[in-house]
Amino acid sequence: MNVRNITFALAAALSIAACTPKSGMDKYIDDLLSRMTLEQKIGQLNLHSAPGFISAEKVTEEDENAKLLRQGLLGGIYGSGDPELLRQCQEIALSSGAGIPLIFGMDVIHGHETVFPVPLALSTSWNPELVERMARISAKEAAATGINWVFSPMVDICRDARWGRIVEGGGEDPYLGGELAKAYIHGYQGYDDKYDTDEVLACVKHYALYGAALAGRDYNSVFLSRQEAMNGYMDPYKAAAEAGAASYMSSFNEFEGIPASMNEWLMDDVLRKAWGFGGFIVSDATAIAEEVNHGIGDLQEVSARSLQAGLDMDMNSDGYIGTLKKSLEKGRITEADIDRACRRILEAKYKLGLFEDPFRYFSKDRYAAEVYSEENRAAAREMARECQVLLKNNGILPLPASARVAVVGPLAKNAMAMTGTWALSSRRNESITLWQGISEVVDASYAEGSWLFKDAHLEENVRYGLYKAFVPGFQIPPIHPVSQEAMIAEAVAKARRSDVVIACVGEVPNLNGEGSSRVDISLPDAQQELLKALKATGKPVVMVLVTGRPLTLVWEDKAMDAILNVWSPGTEGGHAVADVLFGKANPSAKLTTTFPRSVGQLPLYYNHKNTGRPHPDTADYKKFVSCYIDEINAPLYPFGYGLSYTSFTYSDLRLSASEMPMDGSVTASVTVTNTGSCAGDEIVQLYIHDIYATSTRPVKELKGFQKVHIAAGQSVQVDFTLTAEDLSFYNHDLEWVCEPGDFEIMIGSSSRDVQGTTLRVQ
Ligand code: BGC
Repeated sequence: MNVRNITFALAAALSIAACTPKSGMDKYIDDLLSRMTLEQKIGQLNLHSAPGFISAEKVTEEDENAKLLRQGLLGGIYGSGDPELLRQCQEIALSSGAGIPLIFGMDVIHGHETVFPVPLALSTSWNPELVERMARISAKEAAATGINWVFSPMVDICRDARWGRIVEGGGEDPYLGGELAKAYIHGYQGYDDKYDTDEVLACVKHYALYGAALAGRDYNSVFLSRQEAMNGYMDPYKAAAEAGAASYMSSFNEFEGIPASMNEWLMDDVLRKAWGFGGFIVSDATAIAEEVNHGIGDLQEVSARSLQAGLDMDMNSDGYIGTLKKSLEKGRITEADIDRACRRILEAKYKLGLFEDPFRYFSKDRYAAEVYSEENRAAAREMARECQVLLKNNGILPLPASARVAVVGPLAKNAMAMTGTWALSSRRNESITLWQGISEVVDASYAEGSWLFKDAHLEENVRYGLYKAFVPGFQIPPIHPVSQEAMIAEAVAKARRSDVVIACVGEVPNLNGEGSSRVDISLPDAQQELLKALKATGKPVVMVLVTGRPLTLVWEDKAMDAILNVWSPGTEGGHAVADVLFGKANPSAKLTTTFPRSVGQLPLYYNHKNTGRPHPDTADYKKFVSCYIDEINAPLYPFGYGLSYTSFTYSDLRLSASEMPMDGSVTASVTVTNTGSCAGDEIVQLYIHDIYATSTRPVKELKGFQKVHIAAGQSVQVDFTLTAEDLSFYNHDLEWVCEPGDFEIMIGSSSRDVQGTTLRVQ
């Protein structure tokens, strides 16, 4: 059976279930359920954030959570990395109600205490092994703390850089996103559904289509056809299910007029029935309560509907514990609806081994050995080297260690900017800054150089918005205590006394991530002013860009001598960036999101459709074709783009056969030569284009990639095997089909730079 066909999978799945004998787990849970009261079952469906989500408070008698725990009304707790607090919660849970152990969740997104580059940066390595290793280390660190469930991977495809959460995902491409999703799942969970004490449940989020929020505004509506959703966005969620993901988190957005957290088509028809997902689904934080705002009904109605649509656990809405009993009494839901959800959560706890030993995840010894170890930090440095995209280089990089360097910019000494968004349990202030990393290698001077923004209100929100939201009574430090002019003057003076300027500019973490959408994605104005003043000194300027999203950098691309996009590179960021700046490592990362020239081009993505009136990307304006009057169609930096300190040429693209039968395969090969003077890694990309199909198809679709190491002057042959599966898509009836006909097969160094040939499929 082809499990991709949404319509036919259901019957097959049911017939398999009907003849499978009961496992030990099933019997255990049958027995447990038969002894649980209705309240206890509903309690299992309830998830709360820990007391002290941000600070490490202890559970007190008066705590709302402690009260719920004593009544057996919590199935899990999330958001604390404090082992003492978690242990305390577990003890209370075991001594109350049905004595069922809690699961402990946490937003371990790109590391736990050791922090790795933000997920968007990780994706630019195009290296699933790296991602799996990152997830493995994160799981070990989290597990040693008592956490057994991580709210990762975030696999939402995003084509609009205004959306702040683009930083949390793997970019705009569904194929690459799928490969990375599998790597995350295996890294966190291992390769079977038994969990060692250093393996944790993954939670794939945000299901589904959250990254398609209209106009890039967070939590906004999503308007996509099912066909476009299945072809352009769903692959990573599906790949994660196939890799055995244990849980999913429903998203905040609506799809087809139904909020995702009560969307039966998404959760039941697609995820469970078509893809065979057997785990549990948790709502995003307060997402059930938000369905009231969506205009679907009161809390009781939306809770009943979410449960029936397949949502098992309620995060922070209190909709399930508050209303399900009433709904049952009124006949709105059945006890079987509650049992089904409860069973899925109990199964997860059973697989984690919590019924055998509820404390198996806590270990002081493992904590001491595994967490923030030298080995993990070395891995963080190594990975961060591989996740920096060299966007421009006029030859100035790598810099010699003899250079006299002025390190300027408001991000140079900012440890949080290295740590990045969603790093709740990190040692965020200990991350190695750019200044630390650079000044360990060369003779350097420093100036902060500018504020983030010229507008004081914006500066306040960007710097302190998170504290204002979470820390009651937070005292805002003075904003702009020194004038921008004085700061620039100091930076310019230091620049004049140096050979080269390294300008550390970009986004601080609160300028991207959740709740940080932007309408203007240029470099913040105060920092642009600084760059202009530095440029005017005539000294070469290397821009080190810290960001969580693509920015519009047209001026910077012209004016700067080099641009190294380091994202938020993690705990060892400063060291890893210095490694690249001074040539200890050769950059190899390539973009997984398009960098537009102007925000007005958004959404902008490489795998777009041709339209009936296509216009070449770089051609001038022309009336009555698909283009803009005031900007070309081309992005500034396309998907798949990234430079190296060496150069590569592609030649001799060939197919093993020019025709392929439907059940056959063909090999596409290319020769890649390192034409520069140092060894380097090249990410070789294969794209296809279905020339005529029954539905319109994208101009290019990534279907393969390989990262190859090539010594200076050497050539390697890179082979890709293609089958009908690689050439298939969801047709108008949502059938997964490969249609006979001609396909363009393209291989190259980016989505813009490819060579092509034709393959006939029959
Ligand atoms: C976010 C999720 C996160 C959850 C729990 C929500 O606001 O959307 O990504 O996992 O909070 O912290």
